[in-house]
Amino acid sequence: MPPVTGPAGWTSERKAAFLRFHRSRALAARPVETTFAVVVGARVVGAARLCPVKDADRAVEAGVWIGRSHRGAGVGGAVLGHLLDRARADGSAKLFISTTPDNEPVL
Ligand SMILES: CC(C)(COP(=O)(O)OP(=O)(O)OC[C@H]1O[C@@H](n2cnc3c(N)ncnc32)[C@H](O)[C@@H]1OP(=O)(O)O)[C@@H](O)C(=O)NCCC(=O)NCCS
Repeated sequence: MPPVTGPAGWTSERKAAFLRFHRSRALAARPVETTFAVVVGARVVGAARLCPVKDADRAVEAGVWIGRSHRGAGVGGAVLGHLLDRARADGSAKLFISTTPDNEPVL
């Protein structure tokens, strides 16, 4: 979701923005993407998404976000594997990920 200004953490403003964001996308009457909860043990530790790329034939964009306390333990890599399997099963032929040059874990 886009950044929310103000203090760090799950402030009431950020929680409301989080709900608005997902209700306008994966939970919309006409969903623009599919969002998955990433569950480790009994805990939701992150989210992942697959979004069809506009005007591109059978292409999807993937996104993964893992909570800071669960990063670096192999979860993000495993989730990407699941997203690839899911995209293939859904008939996608290409998968894109956008990131910045300094985002080493994604690269
Ligand atoms: C990117 C992200 C999903 C990776 O999840 P993760 O669970 O921390 O990743 P993993 O532990 O599975 O590690 C994945 C790879 O990155 C490497 N890595 C992990 N943390 C790293 C770090 N801080 N610096 C450099 N490399 C790192 C791992 O060694 C692994 O490499 P390998 O596949 O060659 O073994 C997670 O860092 C995150 O949520 N970041 C913020 C959101 C974001 O930037 N999302 C990407 C936009 S799509």
